[in-house]
Parts: sequence; C-alpha cells; structure tokens
Amino acid sequence: MDYLLLVMILFRLHKGATLTADTTVKMEQYLTLKCECPWSGILSQINWERKSDSKKELVAVYHKQHGLKLFNKYEGRIVFLNSSSMDGSITIINASAEDLGLYQCSIKTFPKGSWTKHLLVENSDGFDNRKPDSEELVETGHHFMLRCHYVLNGTVYHVTIERIGEKHKDTIALCSFPDGKIIGPDYKERTLVNCSRALNINLLLKNISINDEGVYQCHFSTDRGNHTTTTSLSVRKEINEFMKIILIYVGAGAGGVVVFTVTIIAMVVVCQKRQKRMRNRAKLDVPKRRQINNYEHAAVYDRMTKPPSRQNKEDIYVNFQKPPRRAKKKT
Ligand SMILES: *[C@@H]1O[C@H](CO)[C@@H](O)[C@H](O)[C@H]1NC(C)=O
Ligand SMILES: *[C@@H]1O[C@H](CO)[C@@H](O)[C@H](O)[C@H]1NC(C)=O
Ligand SMILES: *[C@@H]1O[C@H](CO)[C@@H](O)[C@H](O)[C@H]1NC(C)=O
Ligand SMILES: *[C@@H]1O[C@H](CO)[C@@H](O)[C@H](O)[C@H]1NC(C)=O
Ligand SMILES: *[C@@H]1O[C@H](CO)[C@@H](O)[C@H](O)[C@H]1NC(C)=O
Ligand SMILES: *[C@@H]1O[C@H](CO)[C@@H](O)[C@H](O)[C@H]1NC(C)=O
Repeated sequence: MDYLLLVMILFRLHKGATLTADTTVKMEQYLTLKCECPWSGILSQINWERKSDSKKELVAVYHKQHGLKLFNKYEGRIVFLNSSSMDGSITIINASAEDLGLYQCSIKTFPKGSWTKHLLVENSDGFDNRKPDSEELVETGHHFMLRCHYVLNGTVYHVTIERIGEKHKDTIALCSFPDGKIIGPDYKERTLVNCSRALNINLLLKNISINDEGVYQCHFSTDRGNHTTTTSLSVRKEINEFMKIILIYVGAGAGGVVVFTVTIIAMVVVCQKRQKRMRNRAKLDVPKRRQINNYEHAAVYDRMTKPPSRQNKEDIYVNFQKPPRRAKKKT
C-alpha cells in the first residue's frame, strides 16, 4: 500500500505538472470530505489515510462484513455519511490544525476494482471567487462545454481546469505540455478534454446535474506569468419535464375539445335528421307526438340539455347514444 502510494505520487510528479490533490477543502470544525465512487458495482471496503510531513497514518477502515474501525485520534470523531451505496464520504468532528494535510480515500469495489481520490485540507479564507468572465446556462442531463481560450505569444507549461465552490476546489483536468493530461477521478467518467492546443482547450462535461453549478476556472501557467479565465455555470431543470406536464394538460384539453366538437356535430346531425323524421312522422301521427312533446323545437332543446341516460329510454334516440358516452370516457 505504501509502495503504491509512493509510486503514484512519483508518477504524478514525473508528469511535469504536480497535481497535489483532486479536491482542496477548506478547514472547518465539521470537516466533510466527499468521496463518492461514480462507478456502479458492489462496495467491499473503504480506506481513509492521511499524509502530512511525509508521515502517513490510518484514519478509518470500513469493511462491508467486518464493520468500521477508526484509528487513534479519529476514534469517536468520524461519521460516514453513507448517502448512496458507493459513498465513502466522511465528516470529521471537531477538526483542528492537527487534521490538516493530504487525505487519500480509496474504495474497493467489485468488479471494477479500486477507486481513489486525494483531498487536501488547508486553512483557507475561501477560494478565489472572482467575477466570472462569462456565464452559461445548461439544462440538467445536457452537456456543458467549457472553453479555455487565451491569446498569448509565450510558452504554456500547463493549464489547470478547476471548479470553485464555497468550501472546496475540484481539479477537473490538468493539461501539461507536451506530456499529456490528467482528469480528476470525480470527472473521469463523464469528461472529454483535448489538450493538443494549449491556448484553445475545450472541455466537455456530460450529463450535467444541479450539483455541477458553480464557477469554472481555466488557469494558464506560462513563461509570461499566470492567467485565469472564469465561467459561471447555472443549471436549469430540464424543460422537457415541465413541457411534458404542459403537454399532458394541453393534450387532454385538445382531446376534450375534439370530443366536444364531434359530439356537437353529431348532435346537430342527429337532431337535424330527427327533425326531418319528426316532420315526416308528424304528418302521419300528429296527436301521439304532441302528447310527448308539445312543440318540436322544445323537444330539440330538451334533448340537448337532458342527460343521455334519460333519453336512452326512447328507441328514437338510439343513434344518439355513442357520442355522449365517448365524451364521458375521455374526460
Ligand atoms: C467537540 O468539542 C466539544 C467542545 O470542545 C466537546 O464538548 C465535544 O465532546 C467534542 N466532540 C467530539 C465528538 O469530540
Ligand atoms: C451504509 O448504510 C447501509 C444500510 O443502512 C449499511 O448496511 C452500511 O454498512 C453503511 N455503510 C457505512 C460505510 O456506514
Ligand atoms: C505577439 O507577437 C507579435 C509579433 O511577434 C506582436 O505583434 C503581438 O503584439 C504579440 N501579441 C501578444 C498578445 O503579446
Ligand atoms: C484534438 O484536437 C486536434 C486539433 O484540434 C485534433 O487534430 C485531434 O484529432 C484531437 N484529438 C482528439 C483525441 O480528439
Ligand atoms: C446522468 O446522471 C444521473 C444522475 O445525476 C444518472 O441517474 C443518469 O443515469 C445519468 N445518465 C447517463 C446517461 O449517464
Ligand atoms: C503561477 O501559478 C503557480 C501555480 O499554478 C504559482 O505557483 C506561481 O507562483 C504563479 N506565478 C505567478 C507569477 O503568479
């Protein structure tokens, strides 16, 4: 384990640019360290370690069968947040200067193996929250394209792309030249970045959720100093969900209108036919008809206002049954 950590750190150094941590967290009394594996699978063990001044100590180990073990000064001070099945996030209670340093969280999963994240806890007044150069609005589930463009004649050593929150700063990606790139473990699964042109880097962040809101920075480190561009991202709930609801209502309304119109037309047609028939009948059977309905127009009026059930009793209304029933079902 020690050896592996050492190799990893050396490997990172060798890459040219040093990526100290995937996330930098501001020291607080209740210090929350997020470590949520983005993979799907089964969690078997979570290890937390801390490194400071080249010393390394165990903080906590959780094993699915064997349970939880907290070490030394962390006993009774660590709570696992456990908000999802692959979540190793912790809160350290009563954190102090003694808890500053670099933490490593590693989650052992089946079948994909081990997932690791490095978090640096430092005293900080908060992270540089300058006014953004540009603003973007993206709907949830959509992609966000962050453009890191800069005009310069000199040499670029590396470009760091970060997300700045109130209490933490995530490194999304690091492009170093000419070596290559590193993408942070929280972003690897859903981020595309092409580092081939140092002054024109586009980073694509897929499947945006409300948690991605914040300020994104592109930090250019060059032989002529540093330069930073910032973009603020707002996330809007996908319009489709809203539209779906609207459409259901509008659709139901339109359906209702269609049924209503068809019913009216059918009624008018039926009534006209009936009027004709009644006129014909009236010639043959005047006294009987007059007993039921004193006046033809009154009869028509009655039929339009009376509920269908009442009208069903008379054979003469057989044609009439269908439209009102259909209207009943659909509304
Ligand atoms: C945190 O500190 C307060 C005051 O110093 C103390 O009363 C409390 O017991 C501590 N909690 C833990 C979990 O150490
Ligand atoms: C998370 O919660 C589940 C169910 O409550 C439990 O089985 C599991 O042990 C918890 N994991 C940790 C790390 O506390
Ligand atoms: C880049 O260099 C060209 C000529 O070498 C010069 O005209 C131009 O102003 C420079 N641009 C910047 C941004 O330094
Ligand atoms: C990166 O961009 C360069 C130039 O824009 C292009 O030639 C190259 O194919 C791209 N690489 C990838 C992996 O997309
Ligand atoms: C997008 O993210 C949501 C959670 O934010 C997740 O449930 C969903 O599966 C993701 N979709 C894809 C295509 O990765
Ligand atoms: C440029 O940024 C690096 C960190 O990326 C920092 O160490 C260095 O001091 C900065 N240089 C200048 C001139 O600000």
